[in-house]
Amino acid sequence: MMKTIELKKEKVYCGNLLLVNAEYPLKNNNAESLIPADICFPDILMKRDAAYVLQLVLEKICAGNSIVPVSGYRSLDEQFDIWNVSLRDNGEDFTRKYVALPNHSEHQTGLAIDLGLNEKEIDFIRPDFPYVGICNEFRKAAPDYGFIERYAKDKEEITGISHEPWHFRYVGYPHSKIMQENGFSLEEYTQFIKAYLEDKKYLFEQAHKAEIEIYYVPAKDDKTLIKIPENCVYQISGNNIDGFVVTIWRKTDD
Ligand code: DAL
Ligand code: ZN
Repeated sequence: MMKTIELKKEKVYCGNLLLVNAEYPLKNNNAESLIPADICFPDILMKRDAAYVLQLVLEKICAGNSIVPVSGYRSLDEQFDIWNVSLRDNGEDFTRKYVALPNHSEHQTGLAIDLGLNEKEIDFIRPDFPYVGICNEFRKAAPDYGFIERYAKDKEEITGISHEPWHFRYVGYPHSKIMQENGFSLEEYTQFIKAYLEDKKYLFEQAHKAEIEIYYVPAKDDKTLIKIPENCVYQISGNNIDGFVVTIWRKTDD
């Protein structure tokens, strides 16, 4: 048995897999469902699921208070302020490398978080998040839960942002894992998954667990209809460009 989900065009701009960069701006303000990323930092917000999953990763690696959130959800005004202050204090070259243009920052989605090693002085734009110790434990565990290190050193040309070891983006599992295993940036994954359609799905297999099907559905101008099997867990996310990524969890018979 199948059920049909009806999606309006503007849903292309909602979901965990939004690609937000210099080419693709934010299309809605994403200010709903925000909660503190960490109970001890009530002003640093993220989307609810992303915040819960962040806590799961931190608990898994027993981070204690060694890792702190530095910047989460930003409104358009906040991104403007950060951009302007950085322009004034750090100059244009630095600012273009490390601060996304207002309305082009994935911090405005509520799905991004900058993390820092808990030190006396924490740099707001470039916090310390080294490739050793507890920070690297976080980095290694994150894709098993749904987070990716978003701005890798070898992807600067593609992302348009300089290497940011501290900036993590929630995309949801298993997308994070597929990106890690294949070394994809979010830009590359967005393109990659478009080759998988309803009649040719991408299959992500986990031993003794669910089998996960992923595919892309181009958005229609008015509404897009997506057929989903009854009684299964699924997610649908817009890609912020032209369509939807459908993720369906199927139980395998062991
Ligand atoms: N630092 C990242 C690129 C931002 O400003 O969104
Ligand atoms: Zn960031």
